Amino acid sequence: MAVASRKPLQNRQVATLFLFLCVSVGDAATIRYSVAEEMESGSFVANVAKDLGLEVGKLVARGARLVSEGNKLHFRLHRKTGDLFVKEKLDRESLCGKADPCVLHFEIVLGEPLQSFRVEVRVFDINDNAPSFQNKEPLLKIPESTPLGSRFPLQSAQDLDVGLNGLQNYTLSTNAYFHLHTRFRSHGPKYAELVLDKPLDREEQAEVNLTITAVDGGSPPKSGTAHIRVVVLDVNDHVPQFSRLVYRAQVPENSANGSLVATVTATDLDEGTNKEITYSLAQNPEAILQTFQIDSHTGEVRLREPLDFEATETYDIDIQATDGGGLSAHSKVLVEVMDVNDNPPEVMVSSVSSPLPEDSPLQTVVALFTIRDRDIRVGGKITCFLREDLPFVVKPTFRNSYSLVTDKSLDREDVSGYNITIVAMDTGPPNLSTETVIEVLISDINDNPPKFQKDSYVLTVRENNSPAIFIGKVHAEDLDLGENAQVTYSLLPPKSGDLSVFAYISINSDNGKLYALRTMDYEAIQDFQFVVKATDGGFLTLSSQVTVRVVVLDDNDNRPMILYPLQNGTLPCNDLVPRSAEAGYLVTKVVAVDGDSGQNSWLSYHLLKATDLGLFSVQRQNGEIRTLRQISERDPMMQKLTILVQDHGQPALSTTASLNILLVDGFSEPYLRFWDPSKHSKKVNSTTKYLVISLSVLSFLFLLSVTVIFIIHIYQKIKHRDTFTIQEHFYDDCNFPNNLVQGEGNGSLSRPCTYEICSATGTGNSEFRFLKRFMPNFPFPHASGEVRTEDRSSLPTDSNRNRSRGSEDHTQVSDDYM
Ligand SMILES: *[C@@H]1O[C@H](CO)[C@@H](O)[C@H](O)[C@H]1NC(C)=O
Ligand SMILES: *[C@@H]1O[C@H](CO)[C@@H](O)[C@H](O)[C@H]1NC(C)=O
Ligand SMILES: *[C@@H]1O[C@H](CO)[C@@H](O)[C@H](O)[C@H]1NC(C)=O
Ligand SMILES: *[C@@H]1O[C@H](CO)[C@@H](O)[C@H](O)[C@H]1NC(C)=O
Ligand SMILES: *[C@@H]1O[C@H](CO)[C@@H](O)[C@H](O)[C@H]1NC(C)=O
Ligand SMILES: *[C@@H]1O[C@H](CO)[C@@H](O)[C@H](O)[C@H]1NC(C)=O
Repeated sequence: MAVASRKPLQNRQVATLFLFLCVSVGDAATIRYSVAEEMESGSFVANVAKDLGLEVGKLVARGARLVSEGNKLHFRLHRKTGDLFVKEKLDRESLCGKADPCVLHFEIVLGEPLQSFRVEVRVFDINDNAPSFQNKEPLLKIPESTPLGSRFPLQSAQDLDVGLNGLQNYTLSTNAYFHLHTRFRSHGPKYAELVLDKPLDREEQAEVNLTITAVDGGSPPKSGTAHIRVVVLDVNDHVPQFSRLVYRAQVPENSANGSLVATVTATDLDEGTNKEITYSLAQNPEAILQTFQIDSHTGEVRLREPLDFEATETYDIDIQATDGGGLSAHSKVLVEVMDVNDNPPEVMVSSVSSPLPEDSPLQTVVALFTIRDRDIRVGGKITCFLREDLPFVVKPTFRNSYSLVTDKSLDREDVSGYNITIVAMDTGPPNLSTETVIEVLISDINDNPPKFQKDSYVLTVRENNSPAIFIGKVHAEDLDLGENAQVTYSLLPPKSGDLSVFAYISINSDNGKLYALRTMDYEAIQDFQFVVKATDGGFLTLSSQVTVRVVVLDDNDNRPMILYPLQNGTLPCNDLVPRSAEAGYLVTKVVAVDGDSGQNSWLSYHLLKATDLGLFSVQRQNGEIRTLRQISERDPMMQKLTILVQDHGQPALSTTASLNILLVDGFSEPYLRFWDPSKHSKKVNSTTKYLVISLSVLSFLFLLSVTVIFIIHIYQKIKHRDTFTIQEHFYDDCNFPNNLVQGEGNGSLSRPCTYEICSATGTGNSEFRFLKRFMPNFPFPHASGEVRTEDRSSLPTDSNRNRSRGSEDHTQVSDDYM
């Protein structure tokens, strides 16, 4: 374009070129030319030869040349024609910068004679440079609060051209905020200022793009632009804004610590720290500050303490949001606590009657209690029952009051107290329950009589005891308590009213120890029984009785007594033995009795002394004296024997009996010979007669009883076979109905068995004792005979067995007599 614009210029410049021709004589002559810049290389400037007034040929001849004064030659001389050309394109801005006018100097030097001419070429400016901004996109930061009319100087644009071609004016793109004000400096180019016309608002428009244009004065004018970016800086001119006016939250009261209640959010239109919001629970009462906490960054409101619906149902929390610039806003969180069944029912016992008498009737009130549940709206319905199966039951009285009453009868001896667990349960969900324990003790009532440890007691005491000896004790237990269980013992008067037992026995009323008051005599009394009464100490005393039987044990305190032969006469008894008697002839029999019983009365007979020991022998068991051999003529007529009778007691007691035996040829002879008629004839005679009679009576009775027994036996069998009726076992041998045997009976003894026994005992004499025994007068029950049977049966030997049976039966006889 520069070229295109330069071509038409060329003619004009040449046309307007005015030429100075100064011909100076000598050396000094100056030629001045003007030339426009940007001329193409080789452009014609002027004809120097003509201007110097020289002939054309002369230039060649004189060797004209151009000599630069400075460092560079911008022109060229055509010597033949004398034309001056532009050597290369001239740029005024680079040759002279801002200097105006711009003049180039050189000389034309001619030889022969040496001559020089000074040439000045002035280069004219053309508008070939547009104004330009060094920074095409400058950034301007302006706070949004800047007051109107503030000025912001901008960088100036550069235009290399000078004069009118240089920078002339600035223009600004249309905008709402700024206008431009162009200003001059004394030195340097013009510059512009932005003037604020309208308040900046970052929140409305954060930046403004402006275009500034610099214009020069050339024709046509040239311009350059720059884009100004105005960034509006933030100022904290906005308060935070909550997303809602009021936040609402519903929280179950059993929410865990730290549970989220609500999240509040606030925003701020500002920027940077000005929009950084912190949340806080400012200006809240202490209770709320204790219960809630807020995350200052996220705005999460959380629990920091368990809620209790029953205490507080709603909370009104004030929340504050503050931005980095210190501006703050407020909002509210309304928290509604939701009721949850979290309170178990409470049992309040108002009264308990303990101890409770064991004879309390059914439906007796034991305790009164009320039940309360703090969960008002949920789970408020309550059921109440006992955990275990006890003789009590819960009865509702009114509203939430209940009573505990007895449902079954109580027995202190069975269960002395109860721990009653009352369960109160609400209906939830979830079901909650409480257990309350009421301790009820059962107090004693005297409802148990003393009870003896045994149904009956059998005590033994050895005869000849020392008086007041301890013989045993009875003991009774009472299941009751305290006084009601304090047992005292006493002897009960016999029914017959005879108080003789008190003479024999005494009892310690405290401990039931029994003492024999008197010396017992077995031969007098073998056993007796009495009744002990145990009484407790209750208000209404109860008592029980027990039978105590005392069995007297035998002692060997009686010597055997010789019944035959009589030992108290002056003359010993004489027995006659015919000399013709064979060996084994029964001479006589020693009869002895012992007052004791059992072993103590079991007698044995021994030959102690004899005139001739080889002639007689004594049967150990029955005392029969027999000859051992044939009597010889040499044997003296008078034989003296001493017999020892001994019982088997410990120690054994014994008696001796002596008797004389006369060996006679006939029964009359010795009697006549030795009989002393003056003294004892009648007495001996009668004695012998009695003996013979008694022996024959005994033999007769024996035979009779055997016969009777046989007949009875037969009769019984027949009867049994015929009728099957009569309860035979009621009649043992000794209990036959009297009429059956009455006819055969001996007048003095009414029963057949008596005969049997008397004969069976043989030498035993104990039956006599029983016939004449004396008894204490209190009644002896029938059982006493059986006891003795047991005692005797324990005796060891066979011979004893006979005897014991005898005494047993005779006891019955004696009982019958009583
Ligand atoms: C500069 O330009 C503005 C319009 O852009 C004009 O109003 C003003 O007169 C001009 N100044 C000069 C000195 O030309
Ligand atoms: C201003 O100009 C810049 C780039 O020069 C651009 O990114 C921005 O979006 C413009 N802003 C406006 C409001 O036009
Ligand atoms: C609840 O938790 C917070 C911490 O999260 C603790 O500071 C506070 O003591 C807790 N409260 C209870 C009652 O445990
Ligand atoms: C009741 O329970 C208490 C405590 O366990 C105990 O000491 C007491 O003996 C119990 N009472 C009864 C009557 O069981
Ligand atoms: C709660 O009570 C209901 C009815 O009262 C009963 O069916 C349920 O078994 C109970 N749950 C518990 C855990 O006791
Ligand atoms: C001998 O004793 C018996 C009985 O003991 C008696 O009956 C009798 O009279 C006594 N005779 C003499 C002489 O003492």
